[in-house]
Amino acid sequence: MSDYSDWHILVIDDEKDILDVMYLALSDNGYQVTTAPDGTTGLELCRETPPRIVITDIRMPGMNGLEVLEAVKKLDPDIEVIVCTAFAEMDLAIQALQLDASDFITKPISDHALHLSLERAKQRYTSRKKLQDYAKFLERQAADQAQILHQDKMMSLGRLAASVVHEINNPLSGILNYSRLMSKILKKRPLKEEKIDKFTQYLELVETETERCSQIVSNLLAFSRKSPPSMGPVRIQELLQKCISLSQHKLELQNIALTTSFQPDFPAIQGDANQLQQCIINLIFNAIDAMPEGGNLHIESHYHADKAHGTLAITDTGAGIPEDNLPHIFEPFFTTKQEGYGVGLGLSTVYGIIDRHNGKIDVESRPGHGTTFFIRLPAA
Ligand SMILES: Nc1ncnc2c1ncn2[C@@H]1O[C@H](COP(=O)(O)OP(=O)(O)OP(=O)(O)O)[C@@H](O)[C@H]1O
Ligand SMILES: [Mg+2]
Repeated sequence: MSDYSDWHILVIDDEKDILDVMYLALSDNGYQVTTAPDGTTGLELCRETPPRIVITDIRMPGMNGLEVLEAVKKLDPDIEVIVCTAFAEMDLAIQALQLDASDFITKPISDHALHLSLERAKQRYTSRKKLQDYAKFLERQAADQAQILHQDKMMSLGRLAASVVHEINNPLSGILNYSRLMSKILKKRPLKEEKIDKFTQYLELVETETERCSQIVSNLLAFSRKSPPSMGPVRIQELLQKCISLSQHKLELQNIALTTSFQPDFPAIQGDANQLQQCIINLIFNAIDAMPEGGNLHIESHYHADKAHGTLAITDTGAGIPEDNLPHIFEPFFTTKQEGYGVGLGLSTVYGIIDRHNGKIDVESRPGHGTTFFIRLPAA
């Protein structure tokens, strides 16, 4: 005898003989069986200890089998219901199936038909449970995934906040110190002729440090907003000239010579001038950082034979990028700079902007010799 004791079956029939026979047949097969002589009693039993399968007669005084079926399904749609009909009651059997009965068997009930019906009901019950378990598993997985993403985001945010605070704090304290120093000197006595040079120097420092803060902030904005570019024709040579004049001071301070080669009649590029300017400035600043002892910065622009694309190249004669670092340089927060000198957002911002311009950025580097970044953009 198989062990079906997990399978609790409730049989409802108003004919006592049928109840007795069913009880014997099913419990002989190892099922756990309860019986009820009418629909109302059957439903009460269903509420007390829900069975997995209900076998109910259709024609019964009081509550009929179809009403029992509906009530059971309302109570728990997972309970399988098999209805028993007389041979001539096909229309009732069909109604029962429409009400989600798992099967019908015709009276007189043969062992074989009962066995087949029960197997079908059990299969439906088991598959439904498996499906429910799987759905729960998927729900849990989705929740876990969301949790991990949230944690990742919080970690990145924490890291970001820490490095931004650090980055901005240094220049800010410089600005504060120089401004205090200048106002202290001014309060004591009128500014002497020979102090003017010193003051100009202090003000230049305040200016570069403020620029540094605003560069960090605009990188952060571009990185976090991922704002769609507001496109228009951009004249690249003009843009490059503007970036050069913005970097002039830094280049001189660090003893870096500048050479340029701009192809004449370079076609206008389709792009967002502000975002492209930010990219070029980021690349120039990286190049400057790579040449602490001085060197040469070469900026070039040329268009392709098809005139559908243009390329800008920014080359330095700096330290170069070790091969191991190359796959990581465009990742957010990747930096090899000392704390307080780099957040690691420059190149990831450039990458995002160029990507949104349908362009491409490439790098070639020889450690010890220098680096070139190429930006390819579609013509307007
Ligand atoms: N021209 C270059 N020469 C050598 N290394 C470079 C150059 N440009 C980028 N790198 C390397 O790539 C890293 C990432 O550059 P990225 O501009 O993203 O960040 P960062 O300059 O370190 O910090 P941030 O730009 O946020 O101030 C740099 O730390 C550096 O190691
Ligand atoms: Mg940088």
